[in-house]
Amino acid sequence: MPNTACILAIDQGTTGTTALFVDTQGSIVARGYQEFTQYYPHPGWVEHDPEEIWNATLQAIDALFGETAPNIIALGITNQRETTLIWDRQTGKPIYPAIVWQCRRTADRCTSLEKQGIAGEIKTKTGLVLDAYFSATKIAWILDNVNGAREQAERGELAFGTVDTWLLWKLTDGAVHKTDYTNASRTLLFNINNLSWDDTLLEIFNVPKAILPEVYPSASNFGTASFYRNFWLETFGKNICLDGIPITGIAGDQQAALFGQLCTQPGMVKNTYGTGCFLMLNTGAEKIETETGLLTTLACSLDENPVYALEGSVFVAGAAIQWLRDGIQIIENAVETEEIASSIPDSGGVFVVPAFTGLGAPYWDAEARGAILGLTRGSTRAQIIRATLESIAYQSADVVTAMLTDTKMAVDRLRVDGGATANDFLMQFQADILGIDIERPAQIESTGLGAAYLAGITSGMWNDIDQLEAYRSEQATSDDNVSTARVFSPQIDTNERNQKLAQWKKAVERVMD
Ligand code: G3P
Repeated sequence: MPNTACILAIDQGTTGTTALFVDTQGSIVARGYQEFTQYYPHPGWVEHDPEEIWNATLQAIDALFGETAPNIIALGITNQRETTLIWDRQTGKPIYPAIVWQCRRTADRCTSLEKQGIAGEIKTKTGLVLDAYFSATKIAWILDNVNGAREQAERGELAFGTVDTWLLWKLTDGAVHKTDYTNASRTLLFNINNLSWDDTLLEIFNVPKAILPEVYPSASNFGTASFYRNFWLETFGKNICLDGIPITGIAGDQQAALFGQLCTQPGMVKNTYGTGCFLMLNTGAEKIETETGLLTTLACSLDENPVYALEGSVFVAGAAIQWLRDGIQIIENAVETEEIASSIPDSGGVFVVPAFTGLGAPYWDAEARGAILGLTRGSTRAQIIRATLESIAYQSADVVTAMLTDTKMAVDRLRVDGGATANDFLMQFQADILGIDIERPAQIESTGLGAAYLAGITSGMWNDIDQLEAYRSEQATSDDNVSTARVFSPQIDTNERNQKLAQWKKAVERVMD
């Protein structure tokens, strides 16, 4: 670890925490990671232990330090969004486990609220759909199910936060209770038109205002890390001091990835390929409501002027490859799929629709289930593997098309990140099927980079986005990154593309009710 200036970025994700050091040239120079436990107390319920999240974060940070410690200029946080925590302001102790974004325990509550005919108003104010995914009904659930919690909340004794807010609280030793626009915009309580907590929504969801954090732009001075002198020595046996480091950037992980990809202009779009895919399109100062069920949300902003984005997700992407490996066991590892798929000219008319948990945007069919279609006596394992990879690209293309239809925007490039972007076959097929360039950067950890960029800009380590864009271009052309940084251009013509898309549409229709 060179003894130079850098930003410390914390990426607190659903399954673990990553910590990064990012140097003055915008390059990741060290990485630490720590997983933590997932709790499933009932079918459909998902919880995390807030203290475990905090400990995993400390361990991930600790793993960054080797012989020498760099000069940490500032700290940025990005996080799994919507996950809901409530703690006692006095003791700092959580009153219940964190209810994770995936948790469905409040689905019935959402259905009954929906019957009140308020979904339209909620959509206009928050850009979101009335769903258990978001924080509001999770907050109310904790207040209604923990003894005395509602009364305590009314008296202002409790604090609510998404994971960013919890980490900020812990890092500042309980001095700061704040969040940023992007995280607030995922609660169902924040009005994304006037950028404030909305009294009507608080009433609808029965959430007392006293529990809420203050909300700031993603690039802000949120507070200062506070650790007692020998904390690190006593906890990890290292002579490290994080005390006094300014915390100058916070954003929810998908918005951080958009920023980390430097999609800061309207019309720029990114796709993160993980277990599912998260797509986000920057729509600038314009808030666009959609007809196709996409979410309208706040992107990272450097000042008080809001930046809006459209978000769509693919439920099953990398999870389909896991299914090939662990479910039907026709591959040994994800890496081999690239060679197998490339060994044949096409999927031979085989289509895999991995609607294992229903279909999201733009189909919205919760009852749809997966299928392998177009099988003949001659169909092969390689064709099924190739068709599964292709399904990730088709589903992503469906979301991008919905975004473009809704916004009437023209997009000439998709910036990609996440593990599956290492698969060259998938990236080429994505370019072919979308008919636009796919840009894979030298560094695909866009989420953590986004948090670092926010913190670095606010703290003055970087002047502006242009400077970061210049570093990104330098990295893309550096000899060290030839295999990673790459632009994939479409290699099929419009006719062939339309034909393939028509066949895919037909396959999707067959799995829908
Ligand atoms: O909205 C949920 C999302 O923020 C979770 O992301 O990467 O932690 O699974 P991830």
